[in-house]
Amino acid sequence: MQPFGPYTLHEPLGEGGFSRVYRAHDQRRRVDVALKLLDPAATATEEGRQRFLREVEAARRLRSRHIVPVYETGIHDNRAFLALRLMRGGTLAQRLARTPILDDPAAAQVLRHVARALDHARRYGIIHRDVKPSNIFYDANGVVCLGDFGLAKVRGLVTVTKLGQIIGSVYYMAPEQVRGLIYTSERSDVYSLGVVLYEMMTGRVPFQGQSQANVLHAIVHSPPPRPRQINSRITPEVERVILRALHKDPQRRYASAGELAAAFQQAAFPGQAPPRRIATQPRRGEGPTTAQRPEFWVAVLGLLGLLLLILFLAS
Ligand SMILES: Nc1ncnc2c1ncn2[C@@H]1O[C@H](COP(=O)(O)OP(=O)(O)OP(=O)(O)O)[C@@H](O)[C@H]1O
Ligand SMILES: [Mg+2]
Repeated sequence: MQPFGPYTLHEPLGEGGFSRVYRAHDQRRRVDVALKLLDPAATATEEGRQRFLREVEAARRLRSRHIVPVYETGIHDNRAFLALRLMRGGTLAQRLARTPILDDPAAAQVLRHVARALDHARRYGIIHRDVKPSNIFYDANGVVCLGDFGLAKVRGLVTVTKLGQIIGSVYYMAPEQVRGLIYTSERSDVYSLGVVLYEMMTGRVPFQGQSQANVLHAIVHSPPPRPRQINSRITPEVERVILRALHKDPQRRYASAGELAAAFQQAAFPGQAPPRRIATQPRRGEGPTTAQRPEFWVAVLGLLGLLLLILFLAS
């Protein structure tokens, strides 16, 4: 047991390309958390530290039942850290390692819940950019939550990441991300969620290869192997949904993760009423507050202008 500021570190929970995660105890609040310590390279420069704080701060304000809560962020002993809710149900990656193919209801639940997280963040202008099974968690009640909002940009600062090793995120990158286009949008997240769906349905990712370069080349240039050739139990309707999510052209994909989740629901369970709220309507307490809505400020400024005009005319 090692102290880290107000936390006591217990066993490691896992390791990523540029971070290590421990179960830790927060002595102030007397709760267990997942404490993520970033590779020192991520915040070695002042620019890195500012970027880390900016990106994680924006993501920290997101509140949704389907987003892993960030309790605290900061820099201690020159190490950037995030204290996160400890997700006791493990990751989707761990679940797929045990059961490579999920049944349709389990896959639909992942899509629905992750879509709520992504569509919620999108309302604040936040794109995830790193949707993949190791960032998708189950809580103790089996609710699915998406974690690591804001960290994809921080990772961009770490140039040497375990050289020679295929970084887990590569398989889930959209073609426009691979090509390094400045323009990435929520449709890149739709693509990555499409890869997760492909994997849940077939037991493998669409583009595999001997090297990272092979995988990246295939993502940009090759059509994905048809899911029905890998798992013949997939219906043509479900296959159509998967392939549309993976379209190379972002404009030909679903416009949002919610649309993808709804299309899968319809294809997998034809004729059944969709479960409560697939679509992109915010729940109470999830949407922007009144003061965060641009319409609110337009109305306030309009009224002020009118008032000034009346005062001016009256004087
Ligand atoms: N909030 C959490 N609760 C429980 N376990 C967690 C939590 N966050 C991360 N983990 C565990 O720690 C592991 C490492 O997470 P981390 O985000 O550092 O890397 P990654 O997502 O697996 O990979 P990469 O760094 O390439 O994105 C995860 O795979 C998961 O097993
Ligand atoms: Mg992660």
